[in-house]
Amino acid sequence: MLKSKYLPINSNISRRTHIKAIIMNSMQIIVIGLIILFIRILYTLDARHFYRTATDIAPTEYFVLTSECQIPYVDPFSSEALEIFDPKKFTYVSCTNDVALVQQIYLHETKQYKLHMNLSAMAEVSNTNDDNIEDMYCCYREIKRSGIYEFTTSGYELSSCQRFQQDFLVPRHIDYLITECYIGNETKVATQKDAFTFIQYRKLTDSFNAKNFSKLGIKRPSVLLLGIDSLSRINLRRTMPKTFTHLQKNDWFELKGFNKIADNTFPNLMAALTSYNQPTAEKKCQCKTLGGYNQRMCNLIWNNFRDYGYRTAYAEDVPIISTFNYGRYGFVEQPTDYYLRPFAICIENNMHVEKIDGLPDCIGRKHYAQYILDYALQFSITYTDEPIFGLFWMNSFSHNSFDMPATMDMKILEYLVRMKDENILERTIVFLFADHGMRFGPLLKLKSGFLEERLPMMFISLPQWYRNEHPEFVKALLVNKNRLTSPFDIYATLKHILELTNPVIEFPYLNGTTKGISIFREIPKNRTCLKAGIADHWCTCLLYEIVSINDKEVKNVAHLLIDEMNKYLVSKNIETKCAVLKLNNIYQALRKTSRKDNNSYNELTYRLWYFVRPGFKDFQATVNFNRTANKIEINVEDISRLDSYEQTAYCIDMKEAKKYCICRK
Ligand SMILES: *[C@@H]1O[C@H](CO)[C@@H](O)[C@H](O)[C@H]1NC(C)=O
Ligand SMILES: *[C@@H]1O[C@H](CO)[C@@H](O)[C@H](O)[C@H]1NC(C)=O
Ligand SMILES: *[C@@H]1O[C@H](CO)[C@@H](O)[C@H](O)[C@H]1NC(C)=O
Ligand SMILES: *[C@@H]1O[C@H](CO)[C@@H](O)[C@H](O)[C@H]1NC(C)=O
Ligand SMILES: *[C@@H]1O[C@H](CO)[C@@H](O)[C@H](O)[C@H]1NC(C)=O
Ligand SMILES: *[C@@H]1O[C@H](CO)[C@@H](O)[C@H](O)[C@H]1NC(C)=O
Ligand SMILES: *[C@@H]1O[C@H](CO)[C@@H](O)[C@H](O)[C@H]1NC(C)=O
Repeated sequence: MLKSKYLPINSNISRRTHIKAIIMNSMQIIVIGLIILFIRILYTLDARHFYRTATDIAPTEYFVLTSECQIPYVDPFSSEALEIFDPKKFTYVSCTNDVALVQQIYLHETKQYKLHMNLSAMAEVSNTNDDNIEDMYCCYREIKRSGIYEFTTSGYELSSCQRFQQDFLVPRHIDYLITECYIGNETKVATQKDAFTFIQYRKLTDSFNAKNFSKLGIKRPSVLLLGIDSLSRINLRRTMPKTFTHLQKNDWFELKGFNKIADNTFPNLMAALTSYNQPTAEKKCQCKTLGGYNQRMCNLIWNNFRDYGYRTAYAEDVPIISTFNYGRYGFVEQPTDYYLRPFAICIENNMHVEKIDGLPDCIGRKHYAQYILDYALQFSITYTDEPIFGLFWMNSFSHNSFDMPATMDMKILEYLVRMKDENILERTIVFLFADHGMRFGPLLKLKSGFLEERLPMMFISLPQWYRNEHPEFVKALLVNKNRLTSPFDIYATLKHILELTNPVIEFPYLNGTTKGISIFREIPKNRTCLKAGIADHWCTCLLYEIVSINDKEVKNVAHLLIDEMNKYLVSKNIETKCAVLKLNNIYQALRKTSRKDNNSYNELTYRLWYFVRPGFKDFQATVNFNRTANKIEINVEDISRLDSYEQTAYCIDMKEAKKYCICRK
C-alpha cells in the first residue's frame, strides 16, 4: 500500500517526529529542486550559444520563436560579458556639488516661468552678510535661433547679459537662456553659470483642424518618443538594472523582437518618423540640400501630428553627431513648435563642458541628457490638457561606450518616476527606445555581439484609459512582445494613433514608404525580415551554422569581398587617398542554413567577420555567393565596420565611404 508522503497529524508518531519528517521532506524537495535548477543552468549555458547549427534546435528561451524567425535569448550577465563589465565600477556622479544660485520655478496658474535667486546661498558665496548682498548680482543672456546653418558653432545668437531682480518673470518670447552671477562690479568671471529651457505656452492658431477636433470630442493621447542612442535591450538589462526593473514593475510593454533595419541612427530613426528606408529618405528629404527636410514630401510625422492639433517638440543632445545634422544639412525652418538645437549648440560653446569617452557628459551644472529630459517634462507639464508629440533623443551617455549607461541608471529612473508621479503617463503614450545597439567596441566581440548590435530596446507605456478603451491593443502588444518588429512598425503605430483621433481625415501612406504594421495589431506569426523591412545583414531571425575559417570557400569569399571593397574605393574616386585593402584574417564564418530550401544549393549566404590590413580593421558582411559563377553579390555599403573609423578616415569627407577608407600615411 502506498503511504502518503505527508503523515496525518493524528498518526501515532509523536508531534516532534512529525515535524522532523516534514523538515526532511522539505529538504528532499529543496535538494531535488537544486538539482533540477543545476541541470537547467547547465542546459541553458549550453543552449545559450546563439550560433546554433541546423541540427541544434533545442527548445530554450527565445526572444522570438516562430516558424520564420528564431531569436535566441541572451544572458546579459554571461561570464563572457562580466569579463568586460563590472557593474560595481559605475555609479551616478553629479556634475556639481555647489548650491544653485538661480532656480527656475514654473507657475502653473499663469503658465509662466520665473527665476528665483537663492539669496542665502548668494550671501554664502559672496562671503558677506545680507547687508552687502547688492555686491552680488545675476544676469541672463537670451539664446535665440539665428541663421540657417546650425552646425557646431553657429545657428544661435546670445544677447548681452541683462541683470534681473528677484523672482524675475521670464518674458514669454524667451525659449532658453544662460544665467550668470557675479560678485561686485569689477569681477569679469562669473561665480556661477547656469542654463535654462522654457516651454512657453502658446495658444494653438485657430486652424480649421483645431476646431474640427474639438467638435469630434475624441480624447487624444499625447505621444512622447524618448530615445537613448545605441542601447540594446540586452545592454539595458546589463547596465541599467534599476531602470529596467522599474519598466517591468510598471507594466511597460516590451518588444523583444525589435530589430534594427539598417546600420546607424539616421535610417532607423527615419524609418520610425517617415516610413522611408534610407535611400528613399535621402531622396525625398534631400538631406544634402539646404531645406530638404522641411519639404512636405520628407514626410516627418511630427508635421502630421501638428495637422491633427498637436504641439510638437524635438530635442537632441550632442549637436555634432545628431540625427539630422551629422553629415547632412539640418533644418532651415525650425521643424517643430519647440526645438532645442540652438540651445544645445550654444551651451556647448558657452558653458563649462566635461567630456567622457569623447562626448560631452556634463555641461555647466547638469548632465547633457538632463537638459533633454527636463525639456520633455516641461513640455508635458505645460500642456496638460492639450495633446503633444515630442521626440527627445540622448546620445551623450550611451553612444561611445557600452558601459556608460550604467552611470545614468539612477538618473533615468528618477525621470521615469517623475513622469509617473506627475501623471504624465496618464495622458501620454510613451515609447522608450533605441535606434540600434552598440556598433563598435568590446560588446561586439562577445558571442552575443551579433544580437547586441541589432536588437535595440523598445518599451511602450499606455495610459490606463487608453488600455480600457482599447483592450485589443493590450492583447496585441502582449503577443507582439515575442514577434519580429522593426522601426517601420513604429511609424505605423504613430499613424494608427493619429487615425483614431480623427476617423474623418484620410492619412494614406505616401509613395515610396515601407508599410509596417501597427504594434496595436497582432503581427503575423510567420513574418519574415523581408516583410518587416529588415535587410538580411541586420536580420536576427535567420539560422546560421558555423563554418571553419580555414574552409577554402570561406577564404575565397573573403577575398572576393575585399576585391569589392577596393573596387568601391575606386568607384568613389578615393583610391589615391585610401589604402588598398588586404585580408588579414577571418575571425568567424557563418553560413545560412535553410530548413525549407533545397540543400543541394549553389546559392549560399555567408556571414563573415574579418580583419583587414593596413591596421587590423574589423568588418562584418553578409553576402550571397554563387558557387557556379564564383561570384558574390553585395552592396559594399551594407558591410559593417566594427571598430571606430574616426581615426583612420580623416582624409575623406564622404560619410558612407569613411567605413572603408584607411587613409594612406
Ligand atoms: C538655498 O541655499 C541654502 C544655503 O546654501 C541652502 O541650504 C538651501 O537648501 C537653498 N535652497 C534651495 C531651495 O535650494
Ligand atoms: C557698479 O558700477 C556702476 C558704474 O560703474 C555704479 O554706478 C554702481 O554703483 C556700481 N555698483 C556697485 C554695487 O558697486
Ligand atoms: C471641418 O469642419 C468644417 C466645418 O467646420 C467642415 O466643413 C469640414 O468638413 C470638416 N472637416 C473634417 C475633415 O472634419
Ligand atoms: C504616387 O504614385 C502614383 C503612381 O506612380 C502616382 O499616380 C501618384 O500621383 C503618386 N502620388 C504622390 C502623392 O506622389
Ligand atoms: C503567413 O500566414 C498568412 C496567413 O496565415 C498567409 O496568408 C501567408 O501566405 C503566410 N506567409 C508565409 C510567408 O508563409
Ligand atoms: C532539390 O533539388 C533537386 C535537384 O536539384 C530536385 O530534384 C528536388 O526536387 C529539389 N527538392 C526541393 C524540395 O526543392
Ligand atoms: C549563378 O550563376 C550562374 C552562372 O553564371 C547563373 O546561371 C545563375 O543564374 C546564377 N544564380 C543566381 C541565383 O543568380
